[in-house]
Amino acid sequence: MDIDFIYLLCLGLCLCYGDEEENEELPRPSISAWPSSVVRCKSNVTLRCWTHFQNVTVTLGKMHNSGYQQELRSVAKEAEFHLTHVQPEDAGGYFCAYRTAASRRWSARSQHLQLVVTDGVGGGGGNSPRPSNSKRIILTTFSCLCISLLFVSIYFIYRCTQKDHNILRGASVLSK
Ligand SMILES: *[C@@H]1O[C@H](CO)[C@@H](O)[C@H](O)[C@H]1NC(C)=O
Ligand SMILES: *[C@@H]1O[C@H](CO)[C@@H](O)[C@H](O)[C@H]1NC(C)=O
Repeated sequence: MDIDFIYLLCLGLCLCYGDEEENEELPRPSISAWPSSVVRCKSNVTLRCWTHFQNVTVTLGKMHNSGYQQELRSVAKEAEFHLTHVQPEDAGGYFCAYRTAASRRWSARSQHLQLVVTDGVGGGGGNSPRPSNSKRIILTTFSCLCISLLFVSIYFIYRCTQKDHNILRGASVLSK
């Protein structure tokens, strides 16, 4: 009975171990952006997926957008997805995954790469920096006001406590 139990336990452990091996069959790919993950609006950027294996099918996905998918076959260990004329809505988290011809399952997803699309300086979107600038000026003024108010109140508190202190000192001199 005990031996049966131990045998079953071993069998279970072996099966679990085997499953893990299968999951780890395809190492996680890594993703990077060239020339940078911070790109100007309307410029081009290349997302590179490093897949460890040659001759794989690589897919590029986007976070919070299950409808977004690009797929390509790669004969090298690196797949390149070219994003041209990027728009603000192209910003977001990207990841890639791959599968080899032999494996039917996809590898684990790569880490997320956060693509940031900035306003092009001197580009068509010349109007958008202005509101953000005026917002910044208002914020700066407001925080300056807050800080000066804080200093003024600290000064008054200091003055008050100093006065109390002097009165107390005067009282102690008198009592001596
Ligand atoms: C972006 O790529 C397109 C097509 O490949 C090309 O015509 C365009 O000149 C490129 N733009 C820049 C800024 O490199
Ligand atoms: C790549 O995979 C295809 C099957 O998808 C196969 O026919 C081809 O021989 C493979 N090429 C190399 C270089 O392994």
